[in-house]
Amino acid sequence: MKDAAPSTQPETFYLKDYTPFGYVVERVELVFRLSPEATRVLSKIRFAPNPDVSDREFFLHGEKLKLISAQIDGAEVAPNVTDTGLSCEVPDTPFTWEAEVEINPKANTALEGLYMSNGMYCTQCEAEGFRKITYYPDRPDVMSTFNVRIEGDEKVMLSNGNPGESGEGFAEWHDPWPKPAYLFALVAGDLLNHPDRFTTRSGKDVELNIWVRPGDEGKCAFGMEALKKSMTWDEEVYGREYDLDVFNIVAVDDFNMGAMENKGLNIFNSSCVLASPETSTDANFERIEAIIAHEYFHNWTGNRITCRDWFQLCLKEGLTVYRDAQFTADMRSAPVKRIEDVIELRARQFPEDNGPLAHPVRPEAFQEINNFYTATVYEKGAEVIGMLKRLVGDEAYYKALDLYFNRHDGQACTIEDWIKVFEDSTGRDLAQFKNWYSQAGTPRLSVDESFEDGTYTLTFRQKTPPTPGQDHKDPKVIPIAVGLLTPTGDEVLPTTVLEMTEAEQSFSFEGFKTRPIPSILRDFSAPVILTRDSSAKERAFLLAHDTDPFTRWEAGRELAKASRIAMVIDGASPDSNYLEALQSLVRDDHLDPAFRALVLAPPTESEIAQALADQGVTPDPDAIHDAAETFAQTLAQSLSDSLPRLFAATLVDGAYVPDAKGAGLRALNGRILGLLTRIDGGEAATKQFETANNMTVQNSALACLLKAEKGDAQSQAFFEQWQDDRLVMDKWFGLQVATARPERAPAIAQSLTEHPLFTIKNPNRFRAVMGALAMNHAGFHQADGSGYRLLADQLIALDPLNPQTTARMCSAFQTWKRYDAGRQDKIRAELKRIKATEGLSRDTNEMVSRILD
Ligand code: PHE
Ligand code: ZN
Repeated sequence: MKDAAPSTQPETFYLKDYTPFGYVVERVELVFRLSPEATRVLSKIRFAPNPDVSDREFFLHGEKLKLISAQIDGAEVAPNVTDTGLSCEVPDTPFTWEAEVEINPKANTALEGLYMSNGMYCTQCEAEGFRKITYYPDRPDVMSTFNVRIEGDEKVMLSNGNPGESGEGFAEWHDPWPKPAYLFALVAGDLLNHPDRFTTRSGKDVELNIWVRPGDEGKCAFGMEALKKSMTWDEEVYGREYDLDVFNIVAVDDFNMGAMENKGLNIFNSSCVLASPETSTDANFERIEAIIAHEYFHNWTGNRITCRDWFQLCLKEGLTVYRDAQFTADMRSAPVKRIEDVIELRARQFPEDNGPLAHPVRPEAFQEINNFYTATVYEKGAEVIGMLKRLVGDEAYYKALDLYFNRHDGQACTIEDWIKVFEDSTGRDLAQFKNWYSQAGTPRLSVDESFEDGTYTLTFRQKTPPTPGQDHKDPKVIPIAVGLLTPTGDEVLPTTVLEMTEAEQSFSFEGFKTRPIPSILRDFSAPVILTRDSSAKERAFLLAHDTDPFTRWEAGRELAKASRIAMVIDGASPDSNYLEALQSLVRDDHLDPAFRALVLAPPTESEIAQALADQGVTPDPDAIHDAAETFAQTLAQSLSDSLPRLFAATLVDGAYVPDAKGAGLRALNGRILGLLTRIDGGEAATKQFETANNMTVQNSALACLLKAEKGDAQSQAFFEQWQDDRLVMDKWFGLQVATARPERAPAIAQSLTEHPLFTIKNPNRFRAVMGALAMNHAGFHQADGSGYRLLADQLIALDPLNPQTTARMCSAFQTWKRYDAGRQDKIRAELKRIKATEGLSRDTNEMVSRILD
């Protein structure tokens, strides 16, 4: 499939070009002789001609490998070796391929393949990292069992599957489940384990371990509980049991992504598994629980059933994100989780879907697959599954999933296989639904209403704007959940799912005496942008009375946006109706604190910028920032009488428990403290910082003080307290940039890159500073271009070391066409400067080229 790429023009791979590999792999045996700079990898692979393929080519991927020797059936061979792999004459009958290669884990700063992190060996193979370990058909549709022997003097030496023999200087592992190479993993180092056990519902006893560097063993208990909850949940909800004798999780500090679902040996970015009340916030705890679940759920949706090729990535990722969201909803609060996910989707996926990087949930072409681990594949991929479930109903959904697991266990599948399972089990024709997988862009949904003779009619129109390479869009199937309320707040139509399939479509409801008030897109039933002319009065009514928590919250969000936009465009004052609505909501102690905190969370400045751009107004980041500040200040003043009481009422005393209830209270408390700090000169925040007994409140106190530019002493104290804790120091780095006044943000970020504890090689630390800069909307978009320049400088420096993380961070520039000509010129110049960098990686080159286009 992948041939040597010509050195200038990077090769593009297409979904339509898929052909199966000419050989099947029956067995893989690997021996690793570990050495930091010269690890030897011996492979012994049993190949047989694939009877389904007539035109067979024996090509094995391999990159940055030193080939020592190669044999076929014991006889030396001299393969034709290039930068990307090797080809070789092979027999027409089954044969054994053996090769020995040498690799240099210590020099591997890309963190792909076998690399070292703090003296520990670890691997990352998804998507195409295994080819940096040995020569192999590195494609997900080639599946095999693996036997691994690790030789070295490391205390702990782990690989996939079940442990085999071990002794002085070696350890063996056998993975009985056929898997693609991207699920291979190896870890070796001086590690300590936090052990536990789990009995599956059919009575299988499983050994569980979380492996960490010495010193981190006190931060494993929460992750372990999350793992056991995930195992139980997957049995109860999806009927899926674990299938090996051991399940190992390892925490590593240097990792490009969140975590990786390697079979039986999940590897985690330490920030996504290590937790303690003193060092982790509520948000960290929730995220860790979700990621542990996500990786564990991959054991069935990803590992037992995998992807035929990387174009099908959403087959495992969309489904697994959907499953982890269901899990979090069950463990915590379903409405809160839904609102959080919509905020995320709008912050990360909508900009992608509405800019130069837009691509379908199932992309059809790529140069570098690492660039397609996107919010579209993951989060929109999950939304698509949510819509499917809403359309077929819960029972039919689980029936279809049973069929999926039964029919496809052990296979490498496509989106067609997935859809077919739903068609076969429900009898529905899902041809039109597949547009969600093939057509990029966020549909715009508009709605008109009419009321006549007791009949209430909603008329919807859908339109998806063109995206790169896709001018024409067909109508999609859109499940629109609606409810109707009377003007006194009674629900006259409980949530009903309307199935829209046409470009324009009406739905009528009969038998009303008075005109009802509609609540549309309940639970955010489809990933669309809904526009509806609605009065502030009606929105305030829904904010007060809607029975669906999502649309209730959304009504507040719409009010907030409208008010902010009026402030920016017309210089209006904060909308007094909205201020009043907020005040009464915040003071309403009967309402869930977590919900109140979400209603108080202002729309992001980037969201306002997009809303303005959608109305044809060029967003001015400084004006948007000023409006946000004015609004918050006005709200704080208008609530000033109640803030001290509210602050006291939301304090959680006693020992810290990272559950949803406490987290909700602390979230509200943090919001209140933010407002209070605006009027009390930082008194409450200072006190809270001094008495904090957990990171959530310590962190929020420091954030408030830094924002008020009254936190120098506390920042110094925080540094001294936590300088030896890498994860807490990431917070310290990030907070200073996130809270910086816009005109100071680039300079603060710049000086942090010169701090002794800053290192460009650690993705977490790099993201802490540069990610925070990109998120500080008005700071990043300083008119003098200093934010752009700093990010570009850093990306140019990082690219030769770590292309994957560099390329991902380029997306900070994806919204550039929203802004004025001056800013556009400056961004274009930076993008061109990056693109012109000599030796630029394929990853970054692809991203920058697409953004510039
Ligand atoms: N497959 C991982 C997940 O979603 C993400 C990942 C992709 C990690 C590529 C590393 C490299 O769980
Ligand atoms: Zn995943």
